[in-house]
Amino acid sequence: MNKPLTPRLEKLFSELSPVDTFADVGCDHGYIAEKMLETNKCERAIITDISAECLNKAVKLLEKNFSGKFTAIVADGLKGVPKADEALIAGMGGEIICDILKNADHLPEKLVLQPMKNPEKVRQTAIELGYRLTRDYTFKDVKFYDVITAERGEDDYSPDELIFGRDNLRQKGSAFREFIGLKIKKLERAKMKAKAERAEEIVKRIEKYEEILG
Ligand SMILES: C[S@@+](CC[C@H](N)C(=O)[O-])C[C@H]1O[C@@H](n2cnc3c(N)ncnc32)[C@H](O)[C@@H]1O
Repeated sequence: MNKPLTPRLEKLFSELSPVDTFADVGCDHGYIAEKMLETNKCERAIITDISAECLNKAVKLLEKNFSGKFTAIVADGLKGVPKADEALIAGMGGEIICDILKNADHLPEKLVLQPMKNPEKVRQTAIELGYRLTRDYTFKDVKFYDVITAERGEDDYSPDELIFGRDNLRQKGSAFREFIGLKIKKLERAKMKAKAERAEEIVKRIEKYEEILG
C-alpha cells in the first residue's frame, strides 16, 4: 500500500482528467505520476524536472511497478519534451510556470497549474497562449493555494478575475473567504501603524477586499 497523497496533491490529482499521455513537469517526488498510472487515469506518463537529482527520486518510485509506462526527461519545463495530452505544472512560482508555458515546444490540450505565487500572471499567460480557464479557485492545505485548470480555447478575464480567480469571485468558497479575511486583518494592523498617506492607500485596499467578499 502506497503512502496517501497530501491534501494538496490529492486536490491536484482530482483536477486531472483521464488522458492517454500525462506529463508531470517539475515532478520532484513523482507521487502524482505514480497515482495517475496506478489508477489508470493515464496510459503513459512523462516525468520531467530541471534537476536530475529530483527526477531520479521519481524514477526510483516508478520503475518498480511502472517500468515501460513512463519516460523521464531532465528538462527546463516543456523544452524538448514530446507532446502530452495534459500537463501538471505545480509547486513553482507563477513566473516560472509562465516561462515554461511560453517556451514549450508543444503545448498540451489540457493544463493543471498550481503556482505558489503570482497566479494572476499565470492566468494572463495561459489565456494569451490560447487557453480557456475551466476551474480557478483557492484551496487550503495548511497554506492557501490556487489551482487553475485550462483547456485549448478562448477566454476573456476581467481585471478582478485575473487577480482573484474567476471561481473565487463567483462562488466565494470558504478557503477564498478565509484567505481574503486574513489579508484584511493584516492590512487593518498595518493601518494602525501607518502615516496618513499610506493609511489612505491601505483603506482603499481593505475596501476593495470587502467589495470582493460582498
Ligand atoms: C517544490 S517542487 C514541486 C514538486 C511537485 N510538482 C509538487 O507540486 O509537489 C518544484 C520542482 O520543480 C522543479 N523545477 C523548477 N523549475 C523548473 C523548470 N523550469 N523546469 C522543470 N522543473 C523545474 C524543481 O527542481 C523541483 O523539483
